[in-house]
Amino acid sequence: MMTEKPTFYITTPIYYPSDKLHIGHAYTTVAADAMKRYKKQRGYDAYFLTGTDEHGLKIQQRAEAAGQTPKEFVDGIVDGIKSLWRLLDIDYDDFIRTTDARHEQVVQKLFQKIYDQGDIYKAEYSGWYCTPCETFFTERQLAEGHTCPDCGRPVEMAHEESYFFQMSKYADRWLKFIEENPDFIQPETRRNEMISFVKQGLEDLCVSRTTFDWGIKVPFDEKHVVYVWFDALVNYISALGFGSGDDAKFQKYWPADVHLMAKDIIRFHSIIWPIILMAAGVELPKKVVAHGWLLMQDGKMSKSKGNVVDPVVLVEKYGVDAIRFFLLREMAYGMDANYSEEALINCINTDLANDYGNLLSRTTAMITKFLGGVVEPGAEGTEFDVELKELAAATPANMAQYMDKVDIANAVAEVWKLVAKANKYVDDTAPWALNKNGETEKLKTVMYNLAEVLRQVTILITPVMPHVAEKVWAQLGLSSEQAGSDWTALEWGGFPAGAKISRGEPIFPRIDTAKALGAE
Ligand code: ME8
Ligand code: MG
Repeated sequence: MMTEKPTFYITTPIYYPSDKLHIGHAYTTVAADAMKRYKKQRGYDAYFLTGTDEHGLKIQQRAEAAGQTPKEFVDGIVDGIKSLWRLLDIDYDDFIRTTDARHEQVVQKLFQKIYDQGDIYKAEYSGWYCTPCETFFTERQLAEGHTCPDCGRPVEMAHEESYFFQMSKYADRWLKFIEENPDFIQPETRRNEMISFVKQGLEDLCVSRTTFDWGIKVPFDEKHVVYVWFDALVNYISALGFGSGDDAKFQKYWPADVHLMAKDIIRFHSIIWPIILMAAGVELPKKVVAHGWLLMQDGKMSKSKGNVVDPVVLVEKYGVDAIRFFLLREMAYGMDANYSEEALINCINTDLANDYGNLLSRTTAMITKFLGGVVEPGAEGTEFDVELKELAAATPANMAQYMDKVDIANAVAEVWKLVAKANKYVDDTAPWALNKNGETEKLKTVMYNLAEVLRQVTILITPVMPHVAEKVWAQLGLSSEQAGSDWTALEWGGFPAGAKISRGEPIFPRIDTAKALGAE
C-alpha cells in the first residue's frame, strides 16, 4: 500500500528586486534550502518557495531613473537573482513573482472578499510614510527627528484617500491564537515583542495607495493600488494556487510549516499576515521564525547602507559549501552575527579543514598505509568503540531536536561533536601503535569505525553542504548508492565491508589568512 509522505512547506521572504543581494539575504535562502533538504532526508515531501516582491513606489522610481518601464526593470533583475540562487545551490520548488498573473488574481480576490464582508473600508489617510521600507508609521512609532524607526531615513507626511483594513477588530482573536499556539512566533523574545505591540493597541492598516500606480489595482476602485505588504504576503498562498482553478498544491502543502525571515519583518509575518488570513477564513501557518541580522562593523548589512558583501565573490574564492556552512554555523539562533572575512576563514580552517577534512585525510591515509586501502571490520575491537558508536547513534536525534526548531547552528554543532569524538578516537586508539604491534584485527575495526563515522557525518551535513558528499564518497571508495543519502542509511554498519579507499586532495584546504586578505 502506498502511504502519503508527510509534507513540509517552508518559505523565505520574497526579496525586493536588487542586483545587490548580499550574504544577509543569502543566509535566509540557504537556511530554508538546508531545512528543505533535511526534511527530504527524513522522508518528507518538502516544498520550498522563494521569489521577488516587485511592486511599489520605490521600484517605480528606480525604473524611471533607469529609463525603463517597471516591468522591464524588474525582469532584468530577477534573472540575476535566480542565477545567484543557482550558484548557492538553492533547490527551490517555485519562484513566485508578485507580477505573475497567478499572484495578482489572488490578491484581488482576497481584497474583494475582505472588502465585501466589511473589513476593508475607505477613509482619509494622514500619516508618515517611509518609501524605502514601503511602510506607514504613526507619530508615536517614528524615531528621533521624524525618521523611519526601521531604516533611519526621513519619512514623509502622506495625505490621501485610502482603503483601510480593519485589523483592530481582530486583535483579541490574534492574542487568543498566540496564547493557544505558544510556538507560533519563534524565538520567544520576538513573540513577547509582538504580544506587547498588539496589546498597546492595534491600528487599522492602510492597504491602498493612489499616488503611484505600479501595483495591483484594487478590483473595485482602479485609482487605487494595493499596499505592497498586503500584496507581498499573499505570495505564500498564491504560489500554491489558492483560490484558482488548480489549488491542489494549496490543499497539499498549506498551512506552511515555517515562514522564515529576519527579525525586521517579523511584525508583518506574525501580525498582519495572520490577520489577513483570519479575515479571509484561511488556516494560519504553523510557525513564523525570525533569525537575526548579519552585521558589519557599521551595523546591519543592507543594500541601502551599501556595506554589503557579495556572495558571488565569496563563492568564487572559498567555494559554495564553505560559504553555506559558515553562514549556517555562525548565526546563533535568533541572534545577530558579525560578519568578517577573518571569521569566515577561521571557520573554514577550524571546522572544515582541521576537524572534518583532516579526519577524512588521516583516516584514508592510515587505511591506505596500514591496510592496503581496504575497509573491513576486524574480529576484535577496542575499549573506545562503545562510546563512539553510542554518540553516532545519538547524533541524528540530537541534531533533529535543533533542526526541527530551525536552529541550524546548534544542529551543526551536534554533528561536529561527533567529528570531534572521532578525532579523539584516533588519538585514543593510536592506530599507528596497533599497526606497529601487529594488532591487525583491532586496527581493522578502528579504521572501519572511522570510515563509518565519516559516512554518517557526511550524510548528516549534506543539507548544509550539498557538494561535499560526492568528494567524500570518491575518497572512501563508495558509490552514492552504497553510501546512502537519507536517514534510513544511518544504521551503524552501513559502510560496505571491502570498499577500497582512494586517497585524494584535502576536501577543505587550509587557507592562508594573510594571503587571502592581502589579495583583496
Ligand atoms: O523585506 N541579515 O525584502 P528584502 C540577515 N520584500 N538577513 C537579512 C539581512 C541581513 N543583514 N538583510 C536582508 C523584504 N536579510 C520584503 C519581504 S515577504 C512577504 C516581503 C534577509 O529584499 C532577511 O530574511 O528587504 C530579511 O527578512 C529579508 O532578507 C528581506 O529582504
Ligand atoms: Mg529590507
